[in-house]
Amino acid sequence: MNFVAAAGHLATWNGLLANLGYLASVIMFMLAIMRMGKVKTARSGNTLAAVAMALAIVSSFVEMGKINPIYIVAGLIAGGTAGAIMAKRVQMTQMPEMVALLNGFGGLASLLVGIATFAFAAEKGARGTLERMMLMSDQGGWFGAINLCLTVLVGGLTFTGSVIAYLKLAEKMSGKPILLPARHAINIGLIVVSLLLTVLMVWAVGSVGVNWGLLVLIAVLSLVLGITLVIPIGGGDMPVVISLLNSYSGIAGALAGFTIGEPVLVVSGSLVGASGIILTQIMCKAMNRSLGNVMFGGFGADTGTGGGGGKSEYKNVKSTSPEEVAMIMGDAGTMVVVPGYGMAVAQAQHAIRELAKILEAKGVQIRYAVHPVAGRMPGHMNVLLAEANVPYEQLFEMDQINDDFKNTDVVLVIGANDTVNPAAKTDKSSPLYGMPVLNVEEAKTVFTIKRSLGSGFAGVKNELFECANNYMVYGDARKVVEEIIKGLKEA
Ligand code: TAP
Repeated sequence: MNFVAAAGHLATWNGLLANLGYLASVIMFMLAIMRMGKVKTARSGNTLAAVAMALAIVSSFVEMGKINPIYIVAGLIAGGTAGAIMAKRVQMTQMPEMVALLNGFGGLASLLVGIATFAFAAEKGARGTLERMMLMSDQGGWFGAINLCLTVLVGGLTFTGSVIAYLKLAEKMSGKPILLPARHAINIGLIVVSLLLTVLMVWAVGSVGVNWGLLVLIAVLSLVLGITLVIPIGGGDMPVVISLLNSYSGIAGALAGFTIGEPVLVVSGSLVGASGIILTQIMCKAMNRSLGNVMFGGFGADTGTGGGGGKSEYKNVKSTSPEEVAMIMGDAGTMVVVPGYGMAVAQAQHAIRELAKILEAKGVQIRYAVHPVAGRMPGHMNVLLAEANVPYEQLFEMDQINDDFKNTDVVLVIGANDTVNPAAKTDKSSPLYGMPVLNVEEAKTVFTIKRSLGSGFAGVKNELFECANNYMVYGDARKVVEEIIKGLKEA
């Protein structure tokens, strides 16, 4: 059903009911995205989005009326079962790669919708350009024809780009950037040729066979483009890329919606497309990188996780034991916990929550400071802390708490590194320079739990470790926190 046909469709009861269902689901999608923007309401936002999706599916069934739904029901059961199993099995630390894979499926679905629409148009319009075929198949002439080609193009590159992102994150292929010679020229060439093929396909007269050939070529080029766009990007930058691919999958969905004349797909695809691009911008800003630098910079080719920041670079680093930490924490008035990627690796969130409960019982005020790009995916720390039932009102974003570190007795940095590096504020030669960081060094005492003096994601030395008020507590984050708890219980 296209927009024009929609008006006529309202005349039938099925059409009216279906359109009301679509309208309700679109409004629910919007409200769901709004709720997902805040930690407190994110969970209910997610549930609302799932209900909206169910309503959209039911509305489609109502709209179809007497069409035999057997294939759709079979697809729903297969997809729903696979989705439920994946969601049940996935570890919290594997979430970014699962999102990557699901984005890819979105892209693939759009590509297949494009191809199926062409097959439908080709069947109805016996000969001629795609534009004429689309008119004959009631899909909207040149507008529908261009949409169809773009659906295939964006869907295809989203699919293979997401698969590469998944493989890099799951460490099934090297996370290092693979820098092809003349890669920019290759990518621009692929885009230009695909667009030229689109023009040819829409306006040049040719047989259905020629049109099929051109469409398949566009699909193949788009699949190659997805690979060449994503392989030069380092594994550490994948979360930003995933957010961008998420946006692409939304755009592909919206284009597919135009192609088949399905308004709810247009609106929900646009919502995903817009929110994905906004999230990408937020992440780039918080990492002090431009999108161009992430996409084309080959960041991580020589640096990246694990590199640099070796022990020899540091002078006057002090360390202490969990027992001593327990004594000082027990006497503190206020404490701020600063989690980072290491907390996720060690799965230390439950131990942290237990520690906080013990300290609260002793009268210590506990708060958590969450940096926007702590960890490896947006909201990584929020999700883990919520899983450990940390009260929402104790979670503070960087801007809310950064001025208050100077009034804080104890800061516990747990597995964070780049996000607490003061060099980001002072050292113009640092790759982190300009990235907003948490002012932890302003607190009276800082305890930093990590396994070594090794660097974080950016691969640079952390000046915090040399600060006079900082004490390193070496070890696996969870084990160290458990020992602090033991120390507090024995005191
Ligand atoms: P990082 O700077 O990546 O540092 C994490 C630290 O955790 C490492 O230095 C490591 O030190 C420690 N660690 C690892 N396993 C540990 C364990 N089992 N126990 C204790 N410590 C452990 O972390 P961050 O402060 O969260 O910063 C995130 C970085 O990732 C930023 O540079 C950000 O730009 C980047 N990034 C973030 C995102 C998103 S969306 N969050 C996306 C892409 C990139 P040891 O090896 O010494 O233990």
